[in-house]
Amino acid sequence: MAQVSLQEVSKIYQPGEVKAVDRVSLDVESKEFVVLVGPSGCGKSTTLRMVAGLEEVTSGKIFIGDRMVNEVPPKDRDIAMVFQSYALYPHMTVFENMAFGLSLRGYPKWEITNRVKEAAEILGISRLLNRKPKELSGGERQRVALGRAIVRKPIVFLFDEPLSNLDAKMRVQMRTELNKLHLRLQSTMIYVTHDQMEAMTLGNRIAVMHQGIIQQVADPATVYDHPVNRFVAGFVGSPPMNFIPGRILRRNGRAYFDEGTFRVKVTDETLPRVLPYEGKKILFGIRPEHIYDKLFVQYAPPENTVTATVEVVEPMGSEVYLHLLLGSHTLVARVGGHDRPKVRQDIDLVFDMSKVHFFDPVTEVAVA
Ligand SMILES: Nc1ncnc2c1ncn2[C@@H]1O[C@H](COP(=O)(O)OP(=O)(O)O)[C@@H](O)[C@H]1O
Ligand SMILES: [Mg+2]
Repeated sequence: MAQVSLQEVSKIYQPGEVKAVDRVSLDVESKEFVVLVGPSGCGKSTTLRMVAGLEEVTSGKIFIGDRMVNEVPPKDRDIAMVFQSYALYPHMTVFENMAFGLSLRGYPKWEITNRVKEAAEILGISRLLNRKPKELSGGERQRVALGRAIVRKPIVFLFDEPLSNLDAKMRVQMRTELNKLHLRLQSTMIYVTHDQMEAMTLGNRIAVMHQGIIQQVADPATVYDHPVNRFVAGFVGSPPMNFIPGRILRRNGRAYFDEGTFRVKVTDETLPRVLPYEGKKILFGIRPEHIYDKLFVQYAPPENTVTATVEVVEPMGSEVYLHLLLGSHTLVARVGGHDRPKVRQDIDLVFDMSKVHFFDPVTEVAVA
């Protein structure tokens, strides 16, 4: 049985009847690290807070272990939650901050000391135990907040954007630390973030949310390679996927995606799935890294090659983002660090048609 199970869980806030969470079902297995990711306001925090018991469930069931917890108060759910704001007690030392929850629960002194010392060692903050929060950096404070959760030895850790207050560099560092922490503790973790990079790098599985609804739950590679709809395709990946509306055209047994000013050939593998769209509108999607500058490829199939105008060149160090005008659309290509075409120059681009996506223009569901 899953460690945490949400079954058709909804949340409607009154008054105004905001449907924040809409029939969310999700099973989190023991020791799994699941990331709930989506734009601001999509219902991530509400979902997590319902698991924690901080929000009432409007309908549906939540299980932790084999117990239905809908009516169980937060303190009896055996969870520990870490928030974006660390909310450390300013007058207490690091040790006291970490010990506080255990003292409240009446743990014996020796046990508290052991647990705090162990957690401090895991987090690399043993030398800070006698300091007050104001004597710590943001990253150190966040570690103390983590420590406060770790000492509890909960069945499930819940994280709500715990790294959002840190600067970019520290965030990347703490991301690695969290990965290590999960490996070391081997505990079940549910992590909420709006940052798709954080989701991709942390999660065993990620659940992409939009407008209160879980769009897709899968391992990061599957979400990236096989997004189920346009929303997921556009949300995951940076720079985001390029979308171009057009039609499917058939000529001599071959199928093409036809934008009007250019066309590219659909692969034989993809053909059966786009054929229902013959002569009809379809949405074409291609990630920036699947567009190559013809100058740098060994073989450029003419039927997948298009000419575009360079509008902006953004050198990123190891790679370059080219903003291009193709037909009536702008698109971004991610090319090698030494590729520096000139602005307003026309260049030939090769599309890797084995990596492209097609979406229904109305439902936005992936068709191929
Ligand atoms: N206490 C509340 N009362 C009314 N509406 C709320 C409340 N909390 C959140 N909401 C609304 O519910 C939706 C989801 O919010 P939230 O779960 O905080 O999103 P996220 O964490 O993904 O940014 C938003 O539209 C938000 O405005
Ligand atoms: Mg939130």
